[in-house]
Amino acid sequence: MKEKEEVLKIRGLDIAFTTDNGTVNAVRGVDLDLHRGETIAIVGESGSGKSVTTKAVMGILAGNGKILDGSIDYTYYEFSPERIKEIRDQHDGRIPDGFVREDEKRTVDIVKATPKFIQSEIRGRRIAMVFQDPLTSLDPTMTIGKQVMEAMRYHYKMPKKEAWQRAVHLLELVGITDAEKRMKNYPHQLSGGMRQRVVIAIALSCDPEVLICDEPTTALDVTIQAKILELIKEIQQKKDLSVIYITHDLGVVAKVADYVNVMYAGRIIEKGTVNDIFYDPKHPYTWGLLASMPDMDTSSDELYTIPGTPPNLLYEVQGDAFAPRNQFALHIDEKVAPPMFKVSDTHSAATWLLAPKAPKVEMPAELKERIERMKKEAMING
Ligand SMILES: Nc1ncnc2c1ncn2[C@@H]1O[C@H](COP(=O)(O)OP(=O)(O)O)[C@@H](O)[C@H]1O
Ligand SMILES: [Mg+2]
Repeated sequence: MKEKEEVLKIRGLDIAFTTDNGTVNAVRGVDLDLHRGETIAIVGESGSGKSVTTKAVMGILAGNGKILDGSIDYTYYEFSPERIKEIRDQHDGRIPDGFVREDEKRTVDIVKATPKFIQSEIRGRRIAMVFQDPLTSLDPTMTIGKQVMEAMRYHYKMPKKEAWQRAVHLLELVGITDAEKRMKNYPHQLSGGMRQRVVIAIALSCDPEVLICDEPTTALDVTIQAKILELIKEIQQKKDLSVIYITHDLGVVAKVADYVNVMYAGRIIEKGTVNDIFYDPKHPYTWGLLASMPDMDTSSDELYTIPGTPPNLLYEVQGDAFAPRNQFALHIDEKVAPPMFKVSDTHSAATWLLAPKAPKVEMPAELKERIERMKKEAMING
């Protein structure tokens, strides 16, 4: 099998914010990999650094934020306008395998790129983002049509008529009926679910290679949530997109992701395939997340909640940031932050429990039962 092509390679990313109360070390040494056509998830409680990490990729960190260290290598294809048209005409916007010539491939470190380069070449064009709340990403004073056309007009200087036709096509693609008519509507004339579909259409308008979805369904009700997830999955397969899915909801992760990155207090503390993380989790924080995930067999008042709160990143973290909340913490956790220990080729976790000399600690029995149940259900549901 051919080695999968790496699209994003983040190494040692450190991001801090300057505030009146001091420096917030929001992201601390993050490594992340995304390959072509793959979906990765970033999960973790609110405030763990999920959004900040991906905002750095998009070049949209808040003004008081700064990347202190690390690299974000992005590999993309540089096509002439004629080539783009050729691809679009022949393949419905998809870039089929083997279609790209070596001389059309580029790698850029987004940390070192100029804001102008990111704006004109990357953001909204090659890497697009869908945010949690469609209302904040849509302009209430502009028609849907105009908003879907805008990025294509800007990035590809597309003539109005062509952009209009393509916008209608995009609205149809994301499942909006009466697309021609909807083009003339304003955001408030659409339901929340429909608005989020519009945001997805906008994100797809320039045929991005990477789609970042930051809690895209959190503001929506459960049935609409499922439809939007299904939609993103379908489009991804059609367009060979690489997707980064940010969520605090592990149930969502199980439905969409190939690989999972668990984040805690600005660090990735466990990573692996969906099966690694759901069936063989190693980090006590991941155990806690899995145990607190709602499922069909556990009523919500029986559900586990991880005790305590994440550390305040205004202060330097001593040792393992999760130790104060971790019933399995070892003495060393108070002093030294654990490195990533390799579990398998696809799986690693930053917990001293994986050190060769660590005492043998098993995950809590209830969680073990839960995982056995999940495995059985997965077998039944195929
Ligand atoms: N502009 C900012 N100024 C100060 N702190 C910030 C800013 N943006 C984010 N943070 C802090 O960075 C940390 C990570 O935030 P974020 O990435 O948004 O978390 P989440 O995992 O919920 O997406 C949080 O502690 C948050 O308070
Ligand atoms: Mg967030």
